[in-house]
Amino acid sequence: MKTNASDIEKIIYKYIPTAKGYQQEILTAMNYAFSAGGKRIRPMMMKLCYDMFADGDKKGDETVIGPFMAAMEMIHTYSLIHDDLPALDNDDLRRGKPTVHVKFGEDIAILAGDGLLNYAYELVAEVMTKRPGDIGVEKAFGVLASKAGIYGMLGGQALDVYMSGQELDENVLEFIYLNKTSALIECPMIIGAYLAGSGDDVAAKLEEAARAVGMAFQVQDDILDIIGQEDKIGKPVHSDEKNDKYTYATIHGIEASKQYVKDMSDKANEIIMGLDVKNGEVKEELIELINSLIDRDR
Ligand code: IPE
Ligand code: IPE
Ligand code: MG
Ligand code: MG
Ligand code: MG
Repeated sequence: MKTNASDIEKIIYKYIPTAKGYQQEILTAMNYAFSAGGKRIRPMMMKLCYDMFADGDKKGDETVIGPFMAAMEMIHTYSLIHDDLPALDNDDLRRGKPTVHVKFGEDIAILAGDGLLNYAYELVAEVMTKRPGDIGVEKAFGVLASKAGIYGMLGGQALDVYMSGQELDENVLEFIYLNKTSALIECPMIIGAYLAGSGDDVAAKLEEAARAVGMAFQVQDDILDIIGQEDKIGKPVHSDEKNDKYTYATIHGIEASKQYVKDMSDKANEIIMGLDVKNGEVKEELIELINSLIDRDR
């Protein structure tokens, strides 16, 4: 892979708010979670999808994609802070460090999550004022808002916690995964394309590919919850068991789950392979990234 997590961090860290003033404590908590590491695959996918379709003035220009990448990772990080709260999954380790509520208290953790979510839109709003009338930026803003919301990640998370301890039929399980996880993978891929100037046809194909990547990603996450190592995944193993969660892996077993991850990744790659892009080598890199997630151990 040409692009790695630290390349992405060089871009997104430019947008971290300074921890000073009376809000210093919450800003420190926000930045603690944001800077704790993580695979950074969402902003990475956004950048790859942008680079795949960008040409002319847009090629290599980070003034618009940069804030969107940071906003994407902030929204993802907020979802993790809240996912770990005692009222949700009640986990005490994230990205190899004590979770925000363990380190800063539950009150600050809730507010730090809210802070990251809101700050994401502050960053993007600033871009919008710099590019008045840019339809790609406007569409990207809408995608960022909706994929994170009640018809996206939040909707999936809500059903996930509501259904804890209950057996899930295939439709409900798929609904949960498509929303809690695929939505925030569809989000960066579509945004990358829109910001590069692509149309709705390309966005729809990327959305379909990302749905499959998201399903594979969540099932691999379920597998790692059972057979992963805490020092690799940076979060507690057996969190799903502790919370009485039915997952794809607990329902179908490890072997069938591994096969599913491979099949969904192949499906995504096939869609991406069929895209007519501006920069073919970036397409190869996106496919390489998707393949690297199949056997990931973190
Ligand atoms: C964890 O996401 C939440 C899921 C959707 C499974 P990641 O596995 O991308 O977490 P980080 O960002 O690398 O910590
Ligand atoms: C949560 O799924 C996905 C989010 C939207 C945060 P999990 O609860 O399985 O994620 P991890 O395993 O805690 O990262
Ligand atoms: Mg959860
Ligand atoms: Mg969790
Ligand atoms: Mg999990």
